[in-house]
Amino acid sequence: MDVKEAIQKRRAYRSLDPVKITEELVRDLAESAQLTPSCFNNQPWRFVFVYDPEVLKQMHEALSQGNEWIHYASMIVVVFTKKELDCDVKGREYYLFDTGMATAHMILRATELGLVAHPIAGFHEDKVKEILRIPEEMTVITLVNIGERREELRSVLSEKQREWERERPERLPLEKFVYINAYQEE
Ligand SMILES: Cc1cc2nc3c(=O)[nH]c(=O)nc-3n(C[C@H](O)[C@H](O)[C@H](O)COP(=O)(O)O)c2cc1C
Repeated sequence: MDVKEAIQKRRAYRSLDPVKITEELVRDLAESAQLTPSCFNNQPWRFVFVYDPEVLKQMHEALSQGNEWIHYASMIVVVFTKKELDCDVKGREYYLFDTGMATAHMILRATELGLVAHPIAGFHEDKVKEILRIPEEMTVITLVNIGERREELRSVLSEKQREWERERPERLPLEKFVYINAYQEE
C-alpha cells in the first residue's frame, strides 16, 4: 500500500472485531512513530500499549458515553506528552503538534496492516492516568483504538454512528482551507 492509499483507506470505523495483538505488532507501530520529525528532534511522544484483557476492562470505565464501541477493541494505545518535553519557540509550543504527527504515522501504518486505528478524545483523563500510573503533569491527548473492521454493524452504535460507518463524514472543500501565495479573508 502506498501512502496515498493508506490516507484514503483510513477511517474512524466503530464496528470492530478483535485482532490478535503480538509484541511484533506493538514494535512495528512504535517504530512507525519513532521516525516522526520533531522540533529539535525532541521526540515528546509517549505511548502505553494496553492489550491485557484485565487492563482493557479497567480502561472501559474511563470512556465517555457514546464510546462503548471501544469495548470491542483489542488494543488501546494511550498517547501522552507534556510541554516540557518539546520546544517552546517564543510562545509557540510544539509538544502536541509533534505527538500528533507521531500518532498519525502510527495510524497510517496500522491502516496499511489492515487494521482500524481510531483516535478519540472522549475519555476521562484522570481515570486513565490513575489506571496506567501516568504522572499528573502529563497530558493524555488521545486513545487510539485498534481492531479490525466488522462489516456487520454492532448494536452498540447509535444511528449517527451507523451513518458514519456507511459513509465518511463530509470534509471541507479545498477552497475553505487552501490559500495560494497569501491568506485571503472570506
Ligand atoms: C482528536 C480526535 C477526537 C475524536 N474523538 C472521538 C470520540 O470521542 N469518539 C468517536 O467515536 N470518534 C472520535 N473521533 C473520530 C472522528 O469523529 C472522525 O475521525 C471524523 O468524524 C472523521 O471520520 P473519518 O476519520 O472516518 O474520516 C475523534 C477523532 C479525533 C482526531
